[in-house]
Amino acid sequence: MTRILVTGSAGQISTELIPALAERGYEIIATDIRPPPEDELEFAEFQILDVTDSQKVDSLIGKFSVDAIIHNASILSAKGEQDPLLALNVNFRGLENVLLAAKKHRVKKVLIPSSIAAFGPQTPKDHTPNDTIMRPTTIYGISKVYVELLGEYFHSKYGLDFRSLRYPGVISAKTKPGGGTTDWAVEIFYEGIETGSYTCFVKKDTIMPMMAMPDCINATIQLFEAPEENLIHRSFNVAGVSFTPEMLETELKRHIPDLQVEYKPDFRQLIADSWPRSIDDSVAREEWGWKHEYDLPKLVDYMFSDLSMKLKSKV
Ligand SMILES: NC(=O)c1ccc[n+]([C@@H]2O[C@H](COP(=O)([O-])OP(=O)(O)OC[C@H]3O[C@@H](n4cnc5c(N)ncnc54)[C@H](O)[C@@H]3O)[C@@H](O)[C@H]2O)c1
Repeated sequence: MTRILVTGSAGQISTELIPALAERGYEIIATDIRPPPEDELEFAEFQILDVTDSQKVDSLIGKFSVDAIIHNASILSAKGEQDPLLALNVNFRGLENVLLAAKKHRVKKVLIPSSIAAFGPQTPKDHTPNDTIMRPTTIYGISKVYVELLGEYFHSKYGLDFRSLRYPGVISAKTKPGGGTTDWAVEIFYEGIETGSYTCFVKKDTIMPMMAMPDCINATIQLFEAPEENLIHRSFNVAGVSFTPEMLETELKRHIPDLQVEYKPDFRQLIADSWPRSIDDSVAREEWGWKHEYDLPKLVDYMFSDLSMKLKSKV
């Protein structure tokens, strides 16, 4: 059995990735600075771990003799712009601590997500290729370029099996997102179902790459399990579907016909404008067989039915 240590295990992606990995037979050590939702504890042993604490990172990875690490602890884009020093500490120092401990304890495989935020204003915006100019302008984006470059350095220098995917905005009903620039695509469902209205923080024609959580989980597990000899790259674009708030509003009105949406762009508009509009993920398709399943109507049906059930059961 492969034992995987997951950091940031109380976050949006880990809370759905951990049960999926456990169902595939992996043993999971879940870690975060805060406890995960109770149902995660059925699937994993939980340990408090602050990834900026190099000694604790080292001692936990050593103590549990882990075979692999999925490093999900991160400060996301919008939160990072509000507190760049926190992002510098968690995203940069945390990454170094995890990679150094992985090398020391001979961990076989390390998967660390990157993001479309690793691209910047000089990147081609449409069908952004896997290998292109990056030069992001946010501290979060810079930290993701660092993930990719330092991970690839540990691979070439020390033989660490490092893998990374550049997620677009990930949309799910289970756990609310943690302070990103694509959060509008989740918030509109919560507020639309609960109040019938939503004020969106980017302009209605801002097109952004997104992905439904089931596609995100499949991509992550597929890359994690891909035979190493098939990988030419180590960092991969993965695309789902690109849409604007206005396109999402129109689609959601199939379920909530009286939905009222106002548009009041804030500081996050600038971040959104610096990112790609759509992603070319042909390299991931060629090297490890990636294929997304959710288009916009399917994504809206999945979110609306899951979230309506969840919000009703709370009443
Ligand atoms: N969700 C998305 O749309 C998205 C898009 C692109 C990339 N990503 C990447 O995917 C990964 C997981 O993202 P997520 O959406 O689940 O994020 P999230 O914000 O929901 O979760 C991050 C977790 O990290 C934890 N954390 C914060 N500081 C910590 C510290 N010092 N030590 C340990 N844990 C700490 C938080 O408590 C939180 O539970 C991240 O690397 C993120 O950059 C996410």
